[in-house]
Amino acid sequence: MSEVIVLAYSGGLDTSVCIPLLRERYGFDKVITVLTDVGQPKEDIDRGNKRAEKLSDEHYVIDAKEEFVEDYIFPAIKANASYEGYVLGTAIARPLIARKTVEIAKKLGADALGHGCTGRGNDQLRFEAVFRATDLRVVAPMRDLDLSREWEIDYARDHGIDVPVTKEKPWSIDENLWSRSIEGGLLEDPFFEPPEEIYAWTKSPERGLAPAKVEIEFSKGVPIALDGERMDGVELIERLNGIAGEHGVGRTDMIEDRVLGLKARENYEHPAATVLLNAHRDLERLILSRAELRFKAMVDEAWSELAYMGLVDDPLYADLSAFVDESSKRVNGVVKMKLSSGRAVAVGRKSPDAIYDQEMVSFDSQTLSQRDAEGFAKYHGFQARFLARR
Ligand code: ARG
Repeated sequence: MSEVIVLAYSGGLDTSVCIPLLRERYGFDKVITVLTDVGQPKEDIDRGNKRAEKLSDEHYVIDAKEEFVEDYIFPAIKANASYEGYVLGTAIARPLIARKTVEIAKKLGADALGHGCTGRGNDQLRFEAVFRATDLRVVAPMRDLDLSREWEIDYARDHGIDVPVTKEKPWSIDENLWSRSIEGGLLEDPFFEPPEEIYAWTKSPERGLAPAKVEIEFSKGVPIALDGERMDGVELIERLNGIAGEHGVGRTDMIEDRVLGLKARENYEHPAATVLLNAHRDLERLILSRAELRFKAMVDEAWSELAYMGLVDDPLYADLSAFVDESSKRVNGVVKMKLSSGRAVAVGRKSPDAIYDQEMVSFDSQTLSQRDAEGFAKYHGFQARFLARR
């Protein structure tokens, strides 16, 4: 019986090399590739399609941008997603890519699922958390075979895979609508300062551009309009990446603790994510109660950690998401953001659901009877005084 594998395919060198390897080293008769579009550059997708046409037995391209925004990015905004300061991106896209790959494998009655991740990173774990929920065999040639870069390039050339003539690409890049990750090469030395050339979405924050302002409208915790113009999430994020990128907003250079325990030097750019997350956090402060804010900070952190690990099928992920959705119901309003020299800060916010009473808090009003507060003040810090008096 012929053995069929469905491979999560990015179009890059590693997953391209996987195609002939799966036939030659693993004996698969049919290698089917699935390229999931989560907003990577069009050139990457075109190149992937072209390579797949030549190499694979059957190829599928799935436009999952809208689903990525609605079901992965929007929840991340509502949960103020951040893992050690990383806004996520690669992490939240992997489960979706894995799920799309599984969908095709099931439809076609395949025998196995493949991915091109190495054994050092998080992505293998995120893919397999989804893949292994099926009863299909899981194959990871890059992790299995531990190939050197030179070997891969020679092998690729022998199999008619076009390898760019330029020497080895200096950085490993992973890109989707939410963030762009740059790692490897000289950046592996944590003391090496990232050169301007690693950035593609952001211009230098130091080029002295005059500040700009944008207004973001949120409904139920998710952005629905930019400067008063309603638009869908994909367009809003794309536009905001452009606007905030001009101001150098959303660069991160950090040491990250991978799930395996390895520390890694990571560079990211994510202009829209920074603007939207800062705006959202600010709006929540106007709307949620003090108790909600305290508790939600813990929920957000736990949610982010599960998302980072790719454990989106853990029941806790659904539990926490339910809390996040419930508390987000009232997160409606507009935040005015100032973009300037790499920063995105809220300079104004308004909401019909604010727990805010200008009349009460104002220096200029007599709505609140100040004398009534005396009783409250009398007993504030009571325990400490009681102890001192003993
Ligand atoms: N460190 C980030 C993460 O684990 C980014 C990984 C980038 N992945 C890649 N294949 N280049 O989410």
